[in-house]
Amino acid sequence: MSASPSNPFPTVDFHTFHRDVLPRLLRDGHGPLAAEAARRLGSLAFRLPGGDAYTYLPGDTDIEVLAGDDRADTVIEVEAEIFSNIVNELDAAAGLLYGVRAKCARGKAMHWLDWEPALRAMFAGRPFYDAETIDLRDRRGARLDAEQTFSLSDDSLDMAHFLRTAGYLLVRGVFRGDEVKAFLDESAVLREEARKGDALSWWGKDAGGVETLCRVTRGATQPKLASIPTDSRMAQLVDLADERLSYQPPKGTGEGVSIIWKNPSMTEGMSDIPWHRDCGMGGHGTQCPGLIASVYLTEASPETGELMFLPGSWNRGAPPIDPNHPDAPRGAHFAARPGDVTLHYGDTMHAAPPPTHTTLERYRISAVTAYKRKGAKPHRGRHYNEVLHGREDGQVESLAELIEGDD
Ligand SMILES: [Fe+2]
Repeated sequence: MSASPSNPFPTVDFHTFHRDVLPRLLRDGHGPLAAEAARRLGSLAFRLPGGDAYTYLPGDTDIEVLAGDDRADTVIEVEAEIFSNIVNELDAAAGLLYGVRAKCARGKAMHWLDWEPALRAMFAGRPFYDAETIDLRDRRGARLDAEQTFSLSDDSLDMAHFLRTAGYLLVRGVFRGDEVKAFLDESAVLREEARKGDALSWWGKDAGGVETLCRVTRGATQPKLASIPTDSRMAQLVDLADERLSYQPPKGTGEGVSIIWKNPSMTEGMSDIPWHRDCGMGGHGTQCPGLIASVYLTEASPETGELMFLPGSWNRGAPPIDPNHPDAPRGAHFAARPGDVTLHYGDTMHAAPPPTHTTLERYRISAVTAYKRKGAKPHRGRHYNEVLHGREDGQVESLAELIEGDD
């Protein structure tokens, strides 16, 4: 299964992979990486519809691969083609479960998500992300200040190093107050025009049962908002990336620039987004590296609903994080002001928790756009978020809810 420039994702044969390729990868260094990621996890098997299966048994320093699934705590059944996509990091557990393209034949489907960092280590040699032990350094070798902020006039080598190391970057004062006001005015028009079920907006419900707008994806239909992605200041920031990334002009009205409104006390819908990576639904192989840019139009703080990041988590396998767990990582926080911009690699673990205040006049509003490698597109020809929009009321179901009770 060696990749060639014309086909970077050759089809993986289920049996050849498990008998020859995977044992070699594990011996060549992926085994210890995966064992670290699979510590304290039970065993996992992949099974084809015909019954052929292989089980991964975690040990202290390696993963044992066994034919069959007798000893597997959790068995995931997938078509051979899907398994090939999993190895190539084109499909991921969450997207496959959401889209009902894989099923849990034994054990718990969520256990597969726990295994994902170990699978990424086994298949792609990606190191395990441990927020406690990761050692990040600045350009001079000192411990990285993960909450450092920059301005457009700072040393571009320092900024590029920070982005490469942390996976994100906050830049102060990129847009002036008058520009931010114009963006807010256009956002208000979009808010007024949004309709539930228009497939161009995301809705949720608050604790009082009130249906509330969370996001509009047609920001690029407004002239000032449409100018953000190609603004020279944004281009200067995107050029900090090691790989050449660019804005791809929207093909439809629901692409290009999204406006996000944070609201307090949301109980339904995808307004508050827990720790995730943007390729968590699938598509790492084709979509990454890619940068997401958030232009803050109002203050972003814990009170108004911030965006936070796990430093150094990009290009590593991070486990699912329960934000209510006492050992949950804290992440890097910024008090972003109107006109500030964050960039983050889509593969960086990040979260948009609920605002901690419920009585403010205004919460976070951001304009969001993306920069990709040339020709990067979803391997299934549609955006991964589309699988989330299965409901007429425009709400997006959480994965845990969808597969709740799944045994
Ligand atoms: Fe995200």
